[in-house]
Amino acid sequence: MSNLRRPLVAGNWKMHGNRAMAQQLVTALRAACQGSAVEVAVFPPALLVETAVSAAAQALTVGIQNISQHPQGAFTGELSVAMAQEAGCHWCLVGHSERRALYGESNQDVAAKFAAAQAGGVTPVLCLGETLEQREAGQTEAVVAAQLKAVTDNVGVAAVAAAVIAYEPVWAIGTGKTASPEQAQAVHAFIRAQLGVEGEVTRILYGGSVNAGNARALFSQPDIDGGLVGGASLDAQEFINVVQAAEQ
Ligand code: 13P
Repeated sequence: MSNLRRPLVAGNWKMHGNRAMAQQLVTALRAACQGSAVEVAVFPPALLVETAVSAAAQALTVGIQNISQHPQGAFTGELSVAMAQEAGCHWCLVGHSERRALYGESNQDVAAKFAAAQAGGVTPVLCLGETLEQREAGQTEAVVAAQLKAVTDNVGVAAVAAAVIAYEPVWAIGTGKTASPEQAQAVHAFIRAQLGVEGEVTRILYGGSVNAGNARALFSQPDIDGGLVGGASLDAQEFINVVQAAEQ
């Protein structure tokens, strides 16, 4: 792993938790993160961001799971980048497969959200990944390349290389069926190659059923710079064990 790519382990809480849980979980992580070589981030539901930010006390960073591509206006239920930024978000997930599959976000929507986040001073974490059907049809590289190209066509390769990418094969999310380290490494290397020399400094995280038991083998791959963790990020000790796996 390049020294320029400090390992990053991020927890995507999805639609889980409440204020008490956010307070307790982030407080527990704060103690474990102090002085770590690994950067740690959490993505709570938007209404819990401020609780997480105040509990984090700068030992870890906080992100939002989704933002609008629009700066303001008549978009009932949406949140702008400026609102996220003001609440203390350092990061924003864009293009998570659940947003793509359940809320119909297209590659173009994802590209617009990526540009809006970056312009607003919130670092996008761009999620890419193929479905099982696509993998079995041999389309993994084509799908991931098209997802990436929609964003690079919009903002340029350098802007994407300056952000964070998360490769999350859809078939590995919430299924307990993780990609093997070799499968994940192959796609990470492919994504990095798409970014050319600029991709050498880009952190590419793996997501999909990461837990304390499989994290070390995944993170030891040369192009895997950390993880985007769902279910296992809701338990403080389990998530701390994943963070520690990235320290080794
Ligand atoms: P799981 O770790 O629960 O499979 O979720 C992965 C994910 O979607 C993180 O964004």
